[in-house]
Amino acid sequence: MLSEFKETVRKVTECYGPSGREDRAAQLLADMIRPYVDEIRRDALGSVIGVKKGTSGKKVMLSAHMDQIGLIVLDIDDKGFARFAPVGGIDPEMTLGHDVVFENGTRGVISCEEKDVKPPVKLKQMFIDIGCSGREEAEKKIAVGDICVYAPHFVDMGERVACCALDDRICCAILVEAMKTIKSSHDIYCVFTSQEEVGCRGAKAAAYSIDPDFGINLDVTGSADTPECDPMPMKLGEGPTVKYIDRSAVITKPVIDFMHKVADKHRIKVQNEVLPYGGTDASAVQTTKGGKAACCVSVATRYIHSPIETADLNDCLAAAEFVRAMAEEAELPVE
Ligand code: CO
Ligand code: ZN
Repeated sequence: MLSEFKETVRKVTECYGPSGREDRAAQLLADMIRPYVDEIRRDALGSVIGVKKGTSGKKVMLSAHMDQIGLIVLDIDDKGFARFAPVGGIDPEMTLGHDVVFENGTRGVISCEEKDVKPPVKLKQMFIDIGCSGREEAEKKIAVGDICVYAPHFVDMGERVACCALDDRICCAILVEAMKTIKSSHDIYCVFTSQEEVGCRGAKAAAYSIDPDFGINLDVTGSADTPECDPMPMKLGEGPTVKYIDRSAVITKPVIDFMHKVADKHRIKVQNEVLPYGGTDASAVQTTKGGKAACCVSVATRYIHSPIETADLNDCLAAAEFVRAMAEEAELPVE
């Protein structure tokens, strides 16, 4: 079970798909859920929407974002080096010295002028070296506007794994896992959203068109179990979270109560999440149309938005169970 899930995580995290350029991830994820849904489509903003029909007349929207953070080429100079801007929250310290890959497979490394190596080095002082000796040669491989991502290096540490793009592909893998066995009286919308990292844009559009009765969003969250970190309740290996708050959403009391009730009923060990920063697609679902009941289940993750995001696979498998149990509840937390 764990090793099979690990393979799914490896496949989805190694797939290229920065915000707005999710085609490859969309294809992969659509193929993975196709056997478990009645219909599947992609909307104009790129989100994948799979539907499994129920009979209750209620709609539950499950969502995880499939985009990852990236770097977009701003300029290619005469020597063949590319300057770039961030797509999503790119941390300069996590970027310098790493390698990247473009959609067409072009590889590169990120460095900076030696005279600039006085920390903190800013993104604008760095460049991508794609191994070319001049502009002409470089422009055969990449163009201004192309987006690259951290090259994936999947680190298998047993029950814990590290890779770039665990945010949020690990939750895409959890959704795939949940969809395999879900049996609900409600219509289940399984949504892999686009463009979360640049402001929950795909989820806004998808939530508006789906108009769900209840939203269950999945994302990674911070953890406070590394040396000398600031206090927060979340830790790796302590189970999926019941999100209370982040900078984008305050989960309403009836929804929090529902989450704890379902977790208790199914004996799923959960931990409470209070995240003093960040935001997720749950906010987009909450605020669509006249306002919706929506929750967020997170996976505690270390080093978010780095090439070595680290999470515990046991938390993920429990999250799949938790999401399934909530989606199967006849009584949803809506009036
Ligand atoms: Co993110
Ligand atoms: Zn995320």
